[in-house]
Amino acid sequence: TKQTGPRHFLDLKDLDATTLRQILDVAAGMKQMQKGRRFPLHPRVPLAGRALGIILSKPSTRTRVSFEVGIRQLGGDAVILTPADMQIGRGETITDTARVLSRFVDALVLRTGRTENLHELARAASVPVINGLTPASHPVQILADILTYEEHRGPVKGRTFAWTGDGNNVLVSLIEGAVRFGFKLRAATPADMAPPQDVLDWAKKEGGDVVLTTDPRAAVDGANCVVTDTWLSMSDSEEESAMRLAKLSPYRVDAALMAQAAPDALFMHCLPAHIGEEVTEDVFEGPQSVVFDEAENRLHAQKGLLAWTMGGENWLSFGKE
Ligand code: CP
Ligand code: NVA
Repeated sequence: TKQTGPRHFLDLKDLDATTLRQILDVAAGMKQMQKGRRFPLHPRVPLAGRALGIILSKPSTRTRVSFEVGIRQLGGDAVILTPADMQIGRGETITDTARVLSRFVDALVLRTGRTENLHELARAASVPVINGLTPASHPVQILADILTYEEHRGPVKGRTFAWTGDGNNVLVSLIEGAVRFGFKLRAATPADMAPPQDVLDWAKKEGGDVVLTTDPRAAVDGANCVVTDTWLSMSDSEEESAMRLAKLSPYRVDAALMAQAAPDALFMHCLPAHIGEEVTEDVFEGPQSVVFDEAENRLHAQKGLLAWTMGGENWLSFGKE
């Protein structure tokens, strides 16, 4: 698929498999370059003079710091913006905000509690817009997850990932990732917390191997990677928390559930974690858990993404000496 206009990164399904693979290859190359060096750490600053606007209307630790540090390592600058402090807070439209910010910065990241806001921003912006999490999806997280799996265990293609828990934004992007990167996915959620039907229909239409169940043991059985996330996302109402905890408790990743997976299975979680809820401490701290490598790889994966987004024709050379 040939994209016209800015190189938006709204969802994994919008990009073809080749481009997504190239982003991870560039990411891995830049990670190696960075790890192999002492001082100066960054003799190459391919995005010097570029600015990234990071708009956060929800809290963030990893997304914020990884984008901010990532663009700086590539020689560019970051501007962190919180809508409450912008004229958006006084009613300036997203469309006008997009048209103005496009005159100042070279790309935008948005984390929002309203998915439509991301699409409105992307329609009006003349610079690339990156999805930094919406209630509907979290594609940058899955880039980091795939990079992490492949560093530890080799190609994801043909492997089986299992998800157990809430059918949330991270699961939607994992489904899209399974299709684009060619791994199998078995997802267990309570029936009324299943991911949206449209993403399942899309996966089927694309020939993906994605199976939905309500049984966590069936999902995890023999899997190469077990993934979960919080039972209460930022967009969920606090009032639902007791109900959610009760419904989701059979989906907790504990040692017994992990034992159903392949012996060398990895455990992943996008963080922040709630120990004793979606995962027990022994699994989270145990030898199969790669959650902090996963967090680190947010930085590297996003540098690959920034290369594609802002690097022009030469972006594929960013990861090479
Ligand atoms: N995993 C993730 O996106 O973390 P933050 O909410 O801290 O950005
Ligand atoms: N599903 C979580 C992910 C946080 C990174 C949320 O949306 O709050």
